Amino acid sequence: MANRDPLAHIPGSDSLFELPRMLSDPVRFLEERYARHGPLFRSRWVVPLVFAIGPEANKTVQVTQRASFSYEQGYRDTAIKRIFAGSLLMEDGPPHQHDRDILQPAMGRLALQDTFAAVAQIWARTAESLSDGATFDAYELVRRATFEVSANALVHLGLDDVTAFQPLFERLIDGAMGSVDWRIPFGRVDRGLRARDELIQRLIPLVDQARSREPRGMLGLLAHHREPDGAPLSNHRIAEHLLLLFWAGYDTTASTGSWMLYELSGALEWQERLAAEQRSHLDGDAPSLDALEKLPEHGWTLKETERLRPAVLFFPRRTVATLELLGHALPVDTLIFYSGYLTHRMPELFAEPERFEPQRWDPARGKAAAPATALVGFGGGPRICLGKAFALMQLRVMLAALLRRFRIERDPDGHARAVPLPIYRMKGARLVARRR
Ligand code: HEM
Repeated sequence: MANRDPLAHIPGSDSLFELPRMLSDPVRFLEERYARHGPLFRSRWVVPLVFAIGPEANKTVQVTQRASFSYEQGYRDTAIKRIFAGSLLMEDGPPHQHDRDILQPAMGRLALQDTFAAVAQIWARTAESLSDGATFDAYELVRRATFEVSANALVHLGLDDVTAFQPLFERLIDGAMGSVDWRIPFGRVDRGLRARDELIQRLIPLVDQARSREPRGMLGLLAHHREPDGAPLSNHRIAEHLLLLFWAGYDTTASTGSWMLYELSGALEWQERLAAEQRSHLDGDAPSLDALEKLPEHGWTLKETERLRPAVLFFPRRTVATLELLGHALPVDTLIFYSGYLTHRMPELFAEPERFEPQRWDPARGKAAAPATALVGFGGGPRICLGKAFALMQLRVMLAALLRRFRIERDPDGHARAVPLPIYRMKGARLVARRR
């Protein structure tokens, strides 16, 4: 009898125990299957799916055969798709390109420079809130500040409004993280969708105000955008874009920033090099964005954090055409994940991959760099993270604000552990600020 499972030729398992095993320890689950089956393996989390690992797979998914993969279908049946319906992330093909072209300038250099001062101010205040010897939870500290940054610089809430909006944003994000997309009254998704409606209603007056002001910052640029026929974007559409930018940029930056501080607290010599780099290259208390971007050792630190601690372990797509990937045929409608986490830990790409070693990015080391698709913490190809420049700007500001004032040490009483899903973040990491 013909084998009716179109993925049967791919190594792996479709046991019903795959999902509970994955949920009990996602990192171990992925590492074990990659070690056992190699770069293409199948599994089953309710529905059958495939993991594709490594630079070659990333290149196929993100660049060469990207038209054969749908984002929208990748998120089919998820709460994320309902909460961020109509957003850039849920679009493919020409509608996606159209919206990305609109959003790109609002996330570009001009907008970065417009928002830089507000980001620097929030981080200066956050750093000043720490006293000499203060212990703090790395994730909580960074999360509070990145929330303010996202609400203020991306969504343009005044600093006073940030607190009032916080519960709504929290409900929105929580709703998106529901494991199923069912809208049950007062359930997680329902609360998220109601928060979405309320946020959109509250954001619309801000969009109106932005239309009558100079086109500055992200909101200003969106409010003044004109389509080829001269039509502006609707208030509702702009509000939807802002919600996605907020969500896509908030927890990802919070987890990356807190991992970075945690890794630095275990690499005190490297921290001293960063502090010295700041002293020798930055003037005064308020360095410019250009000056921050010219610090090479800070740049290596950001890349190494992206490599070792990518904010999300894997991302979904669904095939919309048959194609061959890593020597195996994939039929239409295959759910597939690429994984920065596993790629970044391939020893053939990165020696001693578990070590936090920013110097590995020093071009003077002479070793041929890993291919571009070996580092995909911000995705890659034409749909690379739209907010990458904004996120890196904020992480640079964070390093400058904290390391200029403090040495960050590890509190030996802390019990740091990684929480792998939905965002790969840390919990219980206690750090100590020692004034310089
Ligand atoms: C450290 C922080 C961040 C990380 C690690 C990160 C990571 C990523 C990754 C991996 C993707 C691609 C997902 C995929 O291939 O399916 C992505 C897409 C995206 N990111 Fe980010 N991101 C960060 C910050 C931001 C910020 C600050 C914003 C907005 C202000 C943002 C907005 C977006 C958007 C809109 C997309 C979808 C782009 C498209 O599909 O065209 N991200 N991000």
